[in-house]
Amino acid sequence: MKLLFDTDPGVDDAMALLFLHRHPTAQLLGITTVFGNADIEVTTRNALHLCERFGITAPVARGAALPLVRPPRGAASEVHGDDGLGNLEGPWAGTRAPDARPAHRFIVDTLRAHPGVVTLVAVGPLTNLALALAEDPAITTLVRRVVVMGGAFGIGGQGGNVSPVAEANILSDPHAADAVFTAPWPVTIVGLDVTHRVLMDHACFERLRDQGGAEGAFIWQASRHYVGFYGRAVGVPGCYVHDASAVACALRPDLFSLRAGPVRVVDQGLAIGQTIQRTAGRRYAHAADWDDLPDQQVCADVRADELLALYEQTLRR
Ligand code: BDR
Ligand code: CA
Repeated sequence: MKLLFDTDPGVDDAMALLFLHRHPTAQLLGITTVFGNADIEVTTRNALHLCERFGITAPVARGAALPLVRPPRGAASEVHGDDGLGNLEGPWAGTRAPDARPAHRFIVDTLRAHPGVVTLVAVGPLTNLALALAEDPAITTLVRRVVVMGGAFGIGGQGGNVSPVAEANILSDPHAADAVFTAPWPVTIVGLDVTHRVLMDHACFERLRDQGGAEGAFIWQASRHYVGFYGRAVGVPGCYVHDASAVACALRPDLFSLRAGPVRVVDQGLAIGQTIQRTAGRRYAHAADWDDLPDQQVCADVRADELLALYEQTLRR
């Protein structure tokens, strides 16, 4: 499976990237960076550093520094550390340089070079994807599938993680997310509704450290700050698996159950960043903003134990 990975590394982005790199059927064609967990300088430097550390040779293209419309939310230092990777020895000095093209152009070129076969996995704010759509709307016919980590759809009462209704990636650029979800291409959305059911506990992290080679040990080290945040602020023993769940959904969609229907994003006011799906087939008197839009797939459930086992097994050396 050929994949493009759009990311804002980020501790869980690093966990997802290693998973993708190690998975035997995944062929990573490139990495595009975006602001989010840290500013674009830091997320791009981190992506380049992670490639060197993990032995990834795919190109890295630097992407958007700012959201399309709304002011930036600022870095998530409390969650991911000031350097985005858990406050280890960074800032990282790398020897690799980014691709000459901006991320959105790199996405367009890659989809055009491999029509119909590339899965685009996006685990940060969706600005690069929205810019790619604006530059070349025909890419909607060229992509195999878009898998997004983001959003919270209230399934089982699930709310947001940066406001009562908004998830971080979507709130970081709600206008871009709305453009991506309403475009006529097949999107699967891996939101908090499922990622909060995938808890990586301390024992699992210890196994990654002890059995995952140097890269597994790095993931353990880099995740100490992140896991500390989850313990303090969320009260869970370990962390929720956000970005690696999106990678799992791309590689093993059978682990998820889906709900179809058009999706919109609230782009102003009290509920800014909220993601709302109109269930397929349902018609309302007052849903004109959803009607006549393509159905997208929202993950409604996940076989969490199998996902975690797949992650561990893929990282084991
Ligand atoms: C998402 O926000 C970021 O902090 C994580 O990397 C993940 O992509 C979870 O809400
Ligand atoms: Ca991310």
